[in-house]
Parts: sequence; C-alpha cells; structure tokens
Amino acid sequence: MSDIDNENNCGTPAVAPSPIQQELAAGLLADKATTSPKYFYDAVGSVLFEAICVLPEYYPTRTEASIISEYLSDIAHAIGPGGTLIDLGAGNCAKAARLFPQLHPDQYVPIDISVDHLREAVGRLQQRFPHIEMTALGIDFSQDWSLPSEVRNERRLFFYPGSSIGNFEPEMALAFLKQLRVLCGNGGGILIGIDLIKEHAVLNAAYDDDLGVTAAFNLNVLRHINQQLGTDFDVHQWQHRAFFNADKSRIEMHLEARSEMTIRWPGEHRHFIRGERIHTENSYKYSLDSFLALLNAAGFGQSRHWTDDAGWFAVVYAKAI
Ligand code: AVI
Repeated sequence: MSDIDNENNCGTPAVAPSPIQQELAAGLLADKATTSPKYFYDAVGSVLFEAICVLPEYYPTRTEASIISEYLSDIAHAIGPGGTLIDLGAGNCAKAARLFPQLHPDQYVPIDISVDHLREAVGRLQQRFPHIEMTALGIDFSQDWSLPSEVRNERRLFFYPGSSIGNFEPEMALAFLKQLRVLCGNGGGILIGIDLIKEHAVLNAAYDDDLGVTAAFNLNVLRHINQQLGTDFDVHQWQHRAFFNADKSRIEMHLEARSEMTIRWPGEHRHFIRGERIHTENSYKYSLDSFLALLNAAGFGQSRHWTDDAGWFAVVYAKAI
C-alpha cells in the first residue's frame, strides 16, 4: 500500500494507529532511533532466538543449565518443597520442568505472552507430573500486570531464568523486582539467572557469532516492523552491530544504515544518513554484588547463589524480606 492509498488529503493516516504502531513510530522518529527488544520475537525471531541459545558463542543458556543441573538438590533444599512456582517467560516450560523432580511444587504457573503455545507445553507436562496443579497464563509482563485469584498465595516462588532481567534498563529492573516482591507476599522468593561481567571478547562474540544467527535475529526486527507499521525497510541496507559498552556495563545491539535512505510508512517518514543506527537492545551484565544490592533494594534478602567455575553466570535465590 502506498502512503497515498492510506492517507486522507491532510497527509495523516486514514486509520488511527494502534498502540503498537504508535510505539514503533515514536521509536523510529526519536533523535536516536530505537525499537523495543520485544519486537524481536515474531515467529521467525523466536526460532532464531532458539538457535542463538545453542550457538557455541552464546554461553548463557548452557551455563545456566549446567549450574542448575549441578546444584539442583542444593537449590531445592534452599527453597524448600511445595509452594507455587511462577515461571516468567516460560516458553516451552522446559527449564522449570527440570526443577520439578527436586522442588516438588504444589502449583506451577507458567506465564508467557502467547498462552496458546504455553497450553500445548503444559498439556504434555501435566501428563508427566499429574499431581502438580498447572495454570497457564498469557500475560505481557512488560506492561502493567497482576496475578489472578487461581494463583495460590502461599509461598510463591518467581522463576526468571535466562538473564532476561538484563534486557531491562536498571531502573526498570528495580521496579520489576519490586513488583515481584509485592506479588510474592511474605514467605515467597525469587530464583533468577544473572549474566555476569566478564572478558569483553567473550561478551562480544556471544552477541556477534560467526554464523550470523544473532545478526539475522537483529535484522529480522526490520521485517517485523514492516509487517506491524507498514515501513519499507530493506534488510540488505542494514548491518548488525553488537558490542560491550563497559561504561554502562551492557551489550548494545544496533542496526546500522549501509547508505543514506528515507524510510516511509503511512503518514510518516524518517531519513537516515549512512552509518546512522537504530538501537534495538541492551543486555546488562551485573557483578554479583551489584545484583545482590539490586535485589536488596527491591525487598529481597537472605540470598544464596550458585555459579559456574569460570564465574560467567549466576543463579540466585533470594527470599522476600
Ligand atoms: C533474552 N535475552 C536474555 C537475550 C540476551 O542475551 O540479552 C536476548 C539476546 N539478544 C541477542 N542474543 C540474545
């Protein structure tokens, strides 16, 4: 559809933009163009992310899995049996399922944006663990959210693996942890995966792998924006950039324009000069101390943590205090 097809004669879109379109347009029109990392995860992006997780360069997934498998009985002992396990961003529920044989939750509450995907996974899991009550919830917890009354109140444990907390800006991470603190009530806690600061070459390689899977994951956001907003991005005109910003203790991912161009969508346009970037993601890396301080500021304490031998990744359990 051309601009003209979708515009009235005042040059404004004929149909009011949806909240998603407004958010995407505001990001593209900002002085420093940006998009939220949540737009990575369309059907193609989700498959590419699964591929990233098995790349040799992307150590977080396998390192976290090995920490959990090595220390599972100690982790389960620290947490104690029973209670409600609330799995944030559960996906196929595989990570939480590995906890069940030792943690023995009374109730399992997987949460993800797509409840349909979740229901299939929960159906299979329920057959393996018939004694655990399972309640799948479709919630976008990057927005305002709460838990429905089916979620039991006693001893809620939030499980947030994968170092996804790193994709929040630090102040948003604190706000999110404070919200979890309120939702878990007294007697609850959090079990969370944290990617630790390490040698810059290791970090850079994890976000700029030799096969170009992370590059494809980053570039795919342009195709997703084209679908959502009607932009005319050509992925060939952009290149993946990823690097560790030591001052901010974060990996930054950007898409860089290979040439000067104007991107158009109904009612708007944005000019890019050669080399100009769209900032697509931050992935914050913490020291153990800085993360424990953040947990403390959010109202969690009496923590335990487990790391791999190289000290690349930590799994932290903290109680609501
Ligand atoms: C989902 N999240 C924890 C990943 C990360 O490492 O920040 C997303 C990702 N981006 C590029 N590679 C992986």
